[in-house]
Amino acid sequence: MGALFDNHRAILGNGNMDRPMKVILTGGTGFLGEYLLAELLTCGHLVWCLYRSESRKLDTIRFLGSLGLPRSAESLHWFKGDVLDAADRWDDWRNEYPGLEDVDTLLHGAASTRLYMDEQGEPLRTNLGSARVLRKLVERHPMNVHVISTAYVCGLIQGAMMHEVNHPRGDFVNVYEESKWEAEQIWMGGATLLRPSVIVGHSETGRCTSFSGWYILFQAVHLLDRLLGANLGVDRLNLNIDIPADPGGTINMIPVDYVAKAAVRIIENPENHNKIFHLSHPSPPTHEWTMDFVCRRFNLGGLRFSRAAAPFAQPRSRIERMVWRQMQTIRFHFSNSPSFDRTNTDRATADLDVPPMSEARVAKLIDYAIEQDWGQSPH
Ligand SMILES: NC(=O)c1ccc[n+]([C@@H]2O[C@H](COP(=O)([O-])OP(=O)(O)OC[C@H]3O[C@@H](n4cnc5c(N)ncnc54)[C@H](OP(=O)(O)O)[C@@H]3O)[C@@H](O)[C@H]2O)c1
Repeated sequence: MGALFDNHRAILGNGNMDRPMKVILTGGTGFLGEYLLAELLTCGHLVWCLYRSESRKLDTIRFLGSLGLPRSAESLHWFKGDVLDAADRWDDWRNEYPGLEDVDTLLHGAASTRLYMDEQGEPLRTNLGSARVLRKLVERHPMNVHVISTAYVCGLIQGAMMHEVNHPRGDFVNVYEESKWEAEQIWMGGATLLRPSVIVGHSETGRCTSFSGWYILFQAVHLLDRLLGANLGVDRLNLNIDIPADPGGTINMIPVDYVAKAAVRIIENPENHNKIFHLSHPSPPTHEWTMDFVCRRFNLGGLRFSRAAAPFAQPRSRIERMVWRQMQTIRFHFSNSPSFDRTNTDRATADLDVPPMSEARVAKLIDYAIEQDWGQSPH
């Protein structure tokens, strides 16, 4: 595998990046993908964006238009297909879409972000399948490969520092994280692995199109707020609800615009290729800080994180049961609390500041999510 990719670099002759990259982007219509696409275009690279759905493509074109992108007709080309067909359909695509045969870079962001397995075998089907298929494609058509993974390929960790290395198979929080770890194994040594932590909305506007992960706590509390509005019998300032997690723990959240900027900055420099990068926040808020903020935001009290070791067998009240249910999918996220070393990322992006997670910024993210009804209303 290593020799194969060394060979690719020799063929490309990309000793330095003084010319635009010609990039195939997968997942360009997704939450992060739209920002990756915008950043690539802003930096003057030429992009061939794989898409599946006309309506998602139109949404993305509208989003790019709001940023004044693309700046020229030649810089962005769309080609339609499923990433799982990439190896089989490559020759057809090359014939159908002129210029595709000249691409030198693959930025692979497409994935299934389902946390648990469905009947179609997602997320394994797409996340492992795409790694296998694209690896096969790259054997035939040499490219520099950069893959969007996740910082949580480390599995369930209590407080330890995770380095930018290949992790041994962990005790995974869900099948999604396992699928991303498996995909990393397929690429290891032959692709740059970009590992964002939990991606949240834009650092200035709050714009977001995927309200999972970190947002779920806020959504649960917002729901509680609305329920209590209709129930005058409950003392909203003294709810007495425990959520089992270390109050000093963190969910590492990172704004989508930072992830996109850092990712493009990293892949532009060939010295960074085939290394691992944590696109994580150097100082994420603690659970305690977040809960204090959320209580003030919704004028609630008596919601708290209890220590991870606290008994968590039965909810003590109807309301506690409701909050736990609502947070079911991410309960483990709150008890998973790794820290992420950023040595490689800091070296590669020294002039790029990470937006601090200030109260004003978190308020902006929540306000935007509420305005969008947590993704239920069209963005
Ligand atoms: N969101 C996070 O918090 C987070 C954190 C760490 C890492 N990541 C990683 O970041 C990447 C982007 O995540 P996201 O949150 O932006 O996800 P997303 O909004 O669900 O976007 C996924 C993208 O992948 C495309 N896609 C999925 N299956 C495909 C297939 N078979 N063929 C072609 N395209 C396919 C989707 O196309 P359609 O538009 O047609 O559906 C969409 O463009 C993923 O690799 C994810 O694992 C995300």
